[in-house]
Amino acid sequence: MIGVFDSGLGGLSVLAALVEALPRADFSYFADTAHVPYGNKSEEQIQGRVLAIGEHLASRGCGLLVVACNTATATAVQALRAAHPGIPVVGVEPGIKPAAQASRSGRIAVLATEATANSQRLKHLIRDHAGHAEVFVEPCPGWATHVEMLQLDDPALAADVRARVEPLLAMGVDQIVLGCTHYSFLAPLLKQVIGTRAELVDVADAVARQAQRLAGGLALGSGRLHLHASAYPERLYAALPPLRLGHIAARVSASPV
Ligand code: DGL
Repeated sequence: MIGVFDSGLGGLSVLAALVEALPRADFSYFADTAHVPYGNKSEEQIQGRVLAIGEHLASRGCGLLVVACNTATATAVQALRAAHPGIPVVGVEPGIKPAAQASRSGRIAVLATEATANSQRLKHLIRDHAGHAEVFVEPCPGWATHVEMLQLDDPALAADVRARVEPLLAMGVDQIVLGCTHYSFLAPLLKQVIGTRAELVDVADAVARQAQRLAGGLALGSGRLHLHASAYPERLYAALPPLRLGHIAARVSASPV
């Protein structure tokens, strides 16, 4: 079984890519809905949650872990790997490198949670992979919570998206990196604002390919999917159709971890 987790619903965007890449694998997806959002929490708090969830998924027999959360990866992927040396761990990091390579203007932007925006790991990623591109990091407080509440049509969200993205476009940014897995579900809204002025960069498919490379025999399961929430399981279930994941047939359960 492959364990996948996020602070909440955002990682479902990665799960959708994983299910497409590994249709016969068995997945256990954990949404930490009792503790979402992670983006405004301290490193210690996020690490504590990541280690508890890692332990839970490992004890359920997961042989590969996918951290479907940029914030958790930036803050705690090293601690998770150290806690489970026998289990391969795939993290999600903002697509700085593909964005820098594709940029014609030499200016790219990263939309992320506060915790990811302030992380050392993002600074190192930019130093090592942005090449000569100028990188604008834009923290987007509240966006993940809107996705979590399925308030995708809220005019206040649309206004905030415009207020954050327009100045980036005005500075000549032509690649906008989705640095939080929740933001994949805001792609239609972002595209309305951006039009043809910039491209969105989402790494979900690249993460799925990396998981495919590491899956080995785990690729050959029975295609079962278990969605588990630490609270509000009905939200997880209700999220599948509006997040365009209604085709995913899953068993849903809840309990604190
Ligand atoms: N989905 C998460 C990420 O990729 C975190 C959102 C949050 O809980 O703040 O960063």
